[in-house]
Amino acid sequence: MIYGNTEGIRDFELKKLESLYDYTIEEDVFAPAELLDYLAEVTGMIGKEVSIYISRSGEILDVSIGDQNSVGLKEIHLRRNKKRLSKIRCIHTHPNGNANLSQVDLNSLKSMYFDSMASVGVVEGKATGIQASFLFIDVAGDLACECTKVVDVHAIPQRRWMEKIDEADRNTFVSNQKYATSGESEKAILVGIDTEESLKELKALAETAGAVVVGSLVQKRPKPDIATFIGQGKVHELSLYAQAKDADLIIFDDELSGIQQRNLEREMLSIRVLDRTALILDIFAQRAQSIEGQLQVEMAQLKYQLPRLVGHGVSFSRLGGGIGTRGPGETQLELDRRRIRSRISSLQKEIDRVSEQRRLRRVKREKNQKKIVALVGYTNAGKTTLLNCLSGETAFAENMLFATLDPLIREIPYPDGTDSFLLIDTVGFINKLPHTLIDAFRSTLEETVNADLLLIVSDGASAEIGEQYEIVKQVLSSIGAGDKPALHVVNKCDLASHENLFPDAIHISAKEKIGTGELLEEIEARLAEKALRLSVFIPYERAQDEAWMHRNCRIIDEKFTDSGYELVVEADKILYNQMIQRLDQSITISMQE
Ligand code: GTP
Repeated sequence: MIYGNTEGIRDFELKKLESLYDYTIEEDVFAPAELLDYLAEVTGMIGKEVSIYISRSGEILDVSIGDQNSVGLKEIHLRRNKKRLSKIRCIHTHPNGNANLSQVDLNSLKSMYFDSMASVGVVEGKATGIQASFLFIDVAGDLACECTKVVDVHAIPQRRWMEKIDEADRNTFVSNQKYATSGESEKAILVGIDTEESLKELKALAETAGAVVVGSLVQKRPKPDIATFIGQGKVHELSLYAQAKDADLIIFDDELSGIQQRNLEREMLSIRVLDRTALILDIFAQRAQSIEGQLQVEMAQLKYQLPRLVGHGVSFSRLGGGIGTRGPGETQLELDRRRIRSRISSLQKEIDRVSEQRRLRRVKREKNQKKIVALVGYTNAGKTTLLNCLSGETAFAENMLFATLDPLIREIPYPDGTDSFLLIDTVGFINKLPHTLIDAFRSTLEETVNADLLLIVSDGASAEIGEQYEIVKQVLSSIGAGDKPALHVVNKCDLASHENLFPDAIHISAKEKIGTGELLEEIEARLAEKALRLSVFIPYERAQDEAWMHRNCRIIDEKFTDSGYELVVEADKILYNQMIQRLDQSITISMQE
């Protein structure tokens, strides 16, 4: 798909432009000379400016004709996050031969939050040089652009320029956190169809994303309106209310369908409409630090966007194709969808690769024979604070939702100092966690599934502690960890006591270090419980039980006989009892010495 004004461009020229999408660029290369020579050649042919947009992983996401202000850049808008670089660099040509960046170029670098903006001068289809610029924060704390010298396209200091992007990423993120608290945040209105109370969590989410909530609107109704979520009459009221409050965005407490979103956007004029899922995805996009986390978030974002691309009545079944199915009847929508799908599949490959590395690391850890304890719980319950308290180290703990996105691992010595276990912090759970995110984070959550013991941490200071505990249990069972041995830890006992509500839980304050010694002893006792070694036989038709064993027990050996699986496993007493309840006569279990 070539964006921008393609009028007067001949077919073979368009094809030449299209083939730019086939380039992939190494991750530590800013722009290969060969690509820039090609770009110059096409620019020379059509006599117009050509822009390409490259992702951090080196994929060409968009090719357009015309300057970066005159084209749609739909995907970039979709990804753009006000507080982070867009993770996309723009390289474009100047057919007038001048490689220097113009003021317009620098302005769009700032407004679009590009990783970098670069221009290539072109004379008679040949590149005269390239200049790049990067964002930084000047002494007054304002966003500014730093330009390189114009260099020959064959002499780009590739690695250095990529490092400049990393630097820009770090600097601008810090500075934008400052902006978020200095009154330049986006103003949001929250909308729900439940109670005012139910918007409390949405408010916390909106604030975590950097917005300021300036109003809310609740219309009680049993189910959402198909076309506009709230009643159609209420939509007009909302539009007036949002304008009166000078809102930048309106956030709905549930997931909107593509139709609802479009209808609402039409009514709200220039005010952006977001739903809870998009908001959570935005927070995740800001917070993902590791490569894996970033890939997973991008994947979840694309999966969310796919069914929401504008245009209805276009059947998905017509899209299956790929090369050879492109034809004159194809709409831009179909092309957009195809591009997103192909990006999803390349992301999936990348995620598989990274999660395989994670699996190998895990196998190595298991070989080390260290027991693994995973912290799970509702977001903001105090998991990271507990990890820091037990390990004596400092990780990022903040009174914000989803401070932890990437699993953190620390080695914790037992109280007697003889041995140690590994403690893993995981992403916080939340009500109505978007399913695209659960899918995307499945490999991260596997850390939980593979742990020997879970610490389910509840936020003792929250009035919704009971509901939150239920939600955590639901998410655990949805990822296959519902039967794991677990200790329930109620945190923040310095603020509130829930001994009556949860008499069997361990009550602590991670911040004030109350009860943490007892917790450590309890962990040690649970981990030290002598594992039972069992021989288990499971017929092939009960494959799901074999999978359960893999999720819950330590597998010592497995043989595939003519009639079924023969396993030797290790399990503690609680797990053994669960096993007995779960299995019937077709499965046999016997204790080994
Ligand atoms: P996510 O990363 O969102 O999953 O959060 P988390 O569960 O890791 O929570 P985190 O440790 O970031 O703590 C959230 C907030 O609760 C921080 O402001 C902590 O200082 C505060 N906090 C944690 N433990 C306690 C405690 O025992 N008492 C009090 N009063 N505050 C606590």
